[in-house]
Amino acid sequence: MKIAVLGYGTVGSGVVSVIDTNKEEIKSSAGEGVEVKYILDLRSFPNDPHERDVVHDFDIIVNDKEIRLIAETMGGTEPARTFTERALQKGISVVTSNKELVDAHGAELIEIAKANNCSYLFEASVGGGIPILHTLHTALKSERIESVTGILNGTTNYILTKMEAVGADFADVLKKAQELGYAEKDPTADVEGHDACRKIAILASLISNRRVRHEQVMTEGITKITRDDFIYARGMQRRIKLLGHAEKTKDGSLRVIVAPFLIPLTHPLSGVDDVFNAVEVTSNMLGVSMYYGRGAGKEATASAVVADICEIARNQGAYVERSLTKEEASLVDAAEQTYKFFVRTAAKDKDAMITALSDGGIAYEDLRRQFDSGITSEEAYVTAPVSYGTLQKALQNAPAPLSLIRLLDI
Ligand code: HSE
Repeated sequence: MKIAVLGYGTVGSGVVSVIDTNKEEIKSSAGEGVEVKYILDLRSFPNDPHERDVVHDFDIIVNDKEIRLIAETMGGTEPARTFTERALQKGISVVTSNKELVDAHGAELIEIAKANNCSYLFEASVGGGIPILHTLHTALKSERIESVTGILNGTTNYILTKMEAVGADFADVLKKAQELGYAEKDPTADVEGHDACRKIAILASLISNRRVRHEQVMTEGITKITRDDFIYARGMQRRIKLLGHAEKTKDGSLRVIVAPFLIPLTHPLSGVDDVFNAVEVTSNMLGVSMYYGRGAGKEATASAVVADICEIARNQGAYVERSLTKEEASLVDAAEQTYKFFVRTAAKDKDAMITALSDGGIAYEDLRRQFDSGITSEEAYVTAPVSYGTLQKALQNAPAPLSLIRLLDI
């Protein structure tokens, strides 16, 4: 099967490298050999073993009748969307790692694929190399999925792990992560939770068979987490993780959120450290199952792209199902999502905080009664389960808390 790779950056070159390295395994999985005929990139790559496959014009690829599949690893919505549409309209299947495009136009692209008896697969867009989408569509297809909860961003998981281990503040660890290449020069998409948000929006769409747009998802990043939060987390026998969570409610709506959570040490996600990702799925018969692995990185992400290539090769001329639909999901309003909250306040603001919580009808426990944080200039509380809206309203009458972090309970 002759294929083309769009974009010879980190993931694209990883795809070519996986195809070169695992030739025999891929042949056995795909049922035939897979050969990269073209690589589309604006740049040239002198002395690269695939130098002669590089082209700068998409028309060469889409008009070549030998090309049966395209791996789109360009990122961004344009020109990736136009190229993908043109390929699918010609019956050429497309696989991608491009979560922006899947999130924004996945449903439309799948419709085009279906109409042209080809496929649009996007395993690498969520959880890097972890085969979570495939698992949802095959092994778990006969289950009723109730929720997915995941550590979906490697950069922020690395930063949180290091902040806790070293006792350092966010800005210092971010700087170190950038030096080591674990965080981008512009880290906004990762640290503000936008990347995890797109991924949970895709997962939420898949489990609900409805369209969840990332703009609808309540999203908080990790920039406000401080080293002192980890001192309290330790006292509470918890760790702080940036989670994406999507859950079906009894009335058919979805609760979707991306935020830092204090999770118990006994929770399976609490042991997921550094750049690793994990997704926990709860389904009606199986119960809880968890999928763990490298959520980013050249070869890991490329491995997921290649797995999609092989699945399409095994199903030539047929549409391989991935259920992204255009029908809009109904989401529970962020203000109505209920959690216990960890609240830290300056000692001088203690009375105002207690009054605000009591006046708002919000019960709370004083963490000072449970352990000694050693931080004498502060007070810390855990509220009873309360909606975010109610808590925010109550806190309008108190000085801004030093921290406000949700608790995840098992
Ligand atoms: N920046 C992402 C992460 C890469 O850190 O997980 C994979 O989407």
